[in-house]
Amino acid sequence: MAGLEITDPEAALGRLVQQVLAAQFGAEFAAADPLIRPSAFADYQSNAALSLAKRLGQPPREVAEVIAAGLAGSPAMAAAEVSGPGFINLTLRDDWIGKQADRQLADPRLGVPTAEPVQRIVVDYSGPNVAKELHAGHLRATVVGDAIVRVLEHLGHDVIRAAHLGDWGTQFGMLIEHAVDVGDQATYDQLAAGEFTAFYQAARTKFDGDPGFADRSRQRVVQLQAGDPQAMRLWQLLVDDSMAYLRTVYARLGVTLTDADMAPESFYNSMLSDVCAELEQRGLAVISDGALCAYPPGFTGRDGRPLPLMLRKSDGGYGYDSTDAAAIRYRLRDLGATRLIYVVGSEQHQHLEMVFELAREAGWLTGPATAEHAVVGLMTGPGGQRLRTRTGEQVKLVSLIDEAVERAEKVIAERYDDPQQRSQIAEAVGVGALKYGDLSVARDSSYALDFDRLLALTGNTGPYLQYAAARIRSIFQRAGLDPAQATGPVIAGTEAERTLALRLLGLGRAVTEAAAAAEPHKLAGFLFDVASSFTSFYEQCPVLSSEGAVRTSRLALCALTLRVLETGLGLLGIPIPERM
Ligand code: ARG
Repeated sequence: MAGLEITDPEAALGRLVQQVLAAQFGAEFAAADPLIRPSAFADYQSNAALSLAKRLGQPPREVAEVIAAGLAGSPAMAAAEVSGPGFINLTLRDDWIGKQADRQLADPRLGVPTAEPVQRIVVDYSGPNVAKELHAGHLRATVVGDAIVRVLEHLGHDVIRAAHLGDWGTQFGMLIEHAVDVGDQATYDQLAAGEFTAFYQAARTKFDGDPGFADRSRQRVVQLQAGDPQAMRLWQLLVDDSMAYLRTVYARLGVTLTDADMAPESFYNSMLSDVCAELEQRGLAVISDGALCAYPPGFTGRDGRPLPLMLRKSDGGYGYDSTDAAAIRYRLRDLGATRLIYVVGSEQHQHLEMVFELAREAGWLTGPATAEHAVVGLMTGPGGQRLRTRTGEQVKLVSLIDEAVERAEKVIAERYDDPQQRSQIAEAVGVGALKYGDLSVARDSSYALDFDRLLALTGNTGPYLQYAAARIRSIFQRAGLDPAQATGPVIAGTEAERTLALRLLGLGRAVTEAAAAAEPHKLAGFLFDVASSFTSFYEQCPVLSSEGAVRTSRLALCALTLRVLETGLGLLGIPIPERM
């Protein structure tokens, strides 16, 4: 039976239902939606009979009875029973579940399929800016983006990471002018110390308060854009120092972005005039008040007038809109990507939708290619207000990490005497808690920062999952066994073993769904379910003190749980501490 080759029980049942539909009602139903859903009364239920009955003009319960009778013959099914108006409650056979678990254990990919077809996918994430520190708002765009990248790569896709580094634009005139004022050495010292915010603010204050400085800043921009050596040298200094800073933060967060993944705004400079010319020639951009503007259809301001993307300002300069237009053309036309994912805050939604629409009009975004804004919501203060320091500034990402790690040290790692071990565990738990807290909520919803909740050892938290993994490792350590050697066979004997085995089989589905929707929280929710099922299993089923085939099976379930948690947490970018 074809359905049996599939590890995932939902997919296997779906296939079975389709086979029965085709056999009983005609081949045209072989691809009908089997509508498999979780059930409170059985392992799953199929709601397929309800819609099918409508199409056939037959009573739903009768149709359901026919399907149930067809399913009953399958070696996977323990029971298929009609309930209510025509639901079919599906219970799988224990030996089928055991056999599927054995196959998952023997599969290096743990039942996770490889993508077919493989796509080239650009993921635009993190969105850092030169001469600015990462702040709390960057956490989500960075962490969620990195998880999306890992998940897509695990499925075999050809992923291009792109951090759209803000390294160009009018503010650089002001920054360079300030660097000239304070001198090379002072600039270098301040930036090497990572004090970008202070540097930026000093420049800003002068710019706002001193018209002469503001004028010189504007001239600097023109010089920079014309490639003036002094302006370029100071600009490069700012970029290099920022990159050094970004590298350290990404490393600490376990984010996979490298220098080579930076797709800075300046990278698109050489393409800007060509993009403008192309759009103008095609009549997609027109001069308005001296500026070159595109008006993608469907976007109007409050006054009802069409909203522009400003492709070239009236002074000839280029800005954020120009760069994004060039970037999307480059990604589609030159890189040949067929899926673009922009992991960016909700406040840029309209901007990005306008860029996508322009790309469609221009014929760059065509055929199978898609562009999506993977909206990330805000991390707010405790009461839902904007997250600010006591003095009203944006909270630095690094101070968030520091605080998470400090608290982790107090709460979790304090029982370790060896200071090095203690700080290693605290780092993994703190960083893990912060990242997992972000990844476990739907990315487009906002959430309030609450360290106590993030660091809790129970509930859907990083530490709970890390603890589950660490605990299984210690079971094997105590027994002097290697989890990689566990073979099964798995016996889905008790309810707790059965539930755990069924849950574990869903890894492939969880990863595939997270990739399709670019929603890592789906994978996080799955891992939490696995860890909860494991906790019940471990409370109810003695492992090391059991014997014979039961012990072998339970060790196999432990090993499988460990591998599923390690794989899943790895895909989310959550570190697992040595011990916990
Ligand atoms: N650097 C930008 C910012 O700070 C985010 C970049 C997002 N990506 C993009 N292609 N526009 O707002």
